[in-house]
Amino acid sequence: MSATASDSIMETGTFVNCFLLVISLVIIPVNGGYDKERDALLKGTFPQDFIWSSATAAYQIEGAWNVSDKGPSVWDTLAHQGRVYNQDTGDVACDSYHKYPEDVALMKQMGLKYYRFSISWPRIFPTGEQQDGVNQDGVRYYNALINELIANDIQPMVTLFHWDLPQVLQDRYGGFLNNHTTNTTVIHDLFGDYARFCYQNFGDRVKYWITFNEPWITSWLGYGVGNFAPQHNEPAEGQYKAAHNIILSHAKAYHIYDDEFRAAQGGQVGITLNCDWGTPKTPADADAALRYVQFFLGWFAHPIYKNGDYPEVMKTTMARKAQEEGRTTSRLPEFTPEQKLSISGTGDFFGLNHYTTVEVTDACCTPIENPNYDTDKDVGTGHAPDWPRAASSWLYVVPWGIRNLLGFIKEEYGDPEIYVTENGRSDHDQDPAIMMDMERICYYMMYTNEVMKASNMDNVKVKAYTAWSLLDNFEWLSGYSERFGLHYVDFNDPTRTRYPKASSVFFKQLVRNNGYPEGSEFTKYVENMWYFCHNTTEAEVNGYTGGASQISSLFSLFLAIPMMIAYSLIA
Ligand code: BGC
Repeated sequence: MSATASDSIMETGTFVNCFLLVISLVIIPVNGGYDKERDALLKGTFPQDFIWSSATAAYQIEGAWNVSDKGPSVWDTLAHQGRVYNQDTGDVACDSYHKYPEDVALMKQMGLKYYRFSISWPRIFPTGEQQDGVNQDGVRYYNALINELIANDIQPMVTLFHWDLPQVLQDRYGGFLNNHTTNTTVIHDLFGDYARFCYQNFGDRVKYWITFNEPWITSWLGYGVGNFAPQHNEPAEGQYKAAHNIILSHAKAYHIYDDEFRAAQGGQVGITLNCDWGTPKTPADADAALRYVQFFLGWFAHPIYKNGDYPEVMKTTMARKAQEEGRTTSRLPEFTPEQKLSISGTGDFFGLNHYTTVEVTDACCTPIENPNYDTDKDVGTGHAPDWPRAASSWLYVVPWGIRNLLGFIKEEYGDPEIYVTENGRSDHDQDPAIMMDMERICYYMMYTNEVMKASNMDNVKVKAYTAWSLLDNFEWLSGYSERFGLHYVDFNDPTRTRYPKASSVFFKQLVRNNGYPEGSEFTKYVENMWYFCHNTTEAEVNGYTGGASQISSLFSLFLAIPMMIAYSLIA
């Protein structure tokens, strides 16, 4: 957004935005897809100790890419090669390296008691190796951030690896491709050293550690497709080798905590896995949908949370493919018996990032000339015509998908404690900026209600919900063109001023109410919004016509948002 546009937000206030919003509501087509039972609003609250949080990641917000002795990461390299939309880079991003006290103040204002952020490995060890030297300024920065959080009664939840591998490790050892089949792979030890250093220096205050964020992305997009950093294109095998190393590196970091720190520090260590829910397009596609989820989530979750090894369906599918391709060994590597033992059970909690759902069809078993992870699954994927879309091309809004996925995790992995470590919706970067971000409010409303159904109706041990993201930020290959934030950041403004969006006000109320308690003003607001958010009308759901309820819902929307904003300002 231009400076002029940001001025105009401040000058015209919310009225114009409100007006535009109502216009957009009127032209949004009302379509079907609402299932009266499945999609009904559940009233009630989350358990007392439920964790409400918001998340960011180092490369996406910190900036200060080369201050002091920070080393370059593989994402610095990719961005500096001009590979990101609009040639955007994370060089400055939200400038949180300098503005972190403001970020903490925003969390405080929202009543959040937890914050999930990541540490940049090359900001701590510029080459990735401790023996080459420690960047004391990096240690100072994370200490300052953690102290600021604690001083504001906000618990840090820290991710050790959110994709920004030190470039030197990629150059020296091939990063996560390093000797993937041996027991003494260098990258495992180096990740272990880095984890140990973080436990040693920050573990007195950090009680929640996430080793890796979404290893699926690093493996498939980073080492298979190669459009993400470190840009290694080997779609037949790269992802399987990288994933193998990441799982072993995770296990190493887990055991280091267990052996050397747990007794004194008393924290928890887990990993964050991402998964789109796969729903069968027809009943005949049920096995295919299950296979889709096993290749996606099970690839990492099965070894870590179940038995130290890949899912059976992955192993048999890949063994059959090896035969068809005339190979003597499967492209899916094998763990040794010792490795299986060391991997199994290395999660104190199950971190889950979830955004969307796909419809799965069976595509078994067409012979493929250039096999890759996508074709290995023998499935086709698509989307139902009435699923609304966000700005990101892959993001379809299907709230009930998260409830199904949480239920699957409960059943499949022995009822673990699940922390939803990311969930959120993107808008386009546009002028005027979307400050009354109703579609994001709807997304959070519908998805958190489905999480509450999983918790309160299905007895899933879901312990945390984390909104992605606290701030608009560097959205990887899309740069600054897609905005996920609860707060707007003006990336043309050198001071990177943050502005609260309407969704931050909504989220604050959600946290304060700990869900949707019967009879509260907040729940009444949500009830009025419910059909609008589901792109349908009460009339359609209840089988009568007349349109009065949609008008009443628009009316309450008109009133409710400004009232909520006013409420939060005086609260
Ligand atoms: C990642 C975030 C990313 C978000 C939206 C997740 O895959 O962990 O870094 O910004 O999704 O794409």
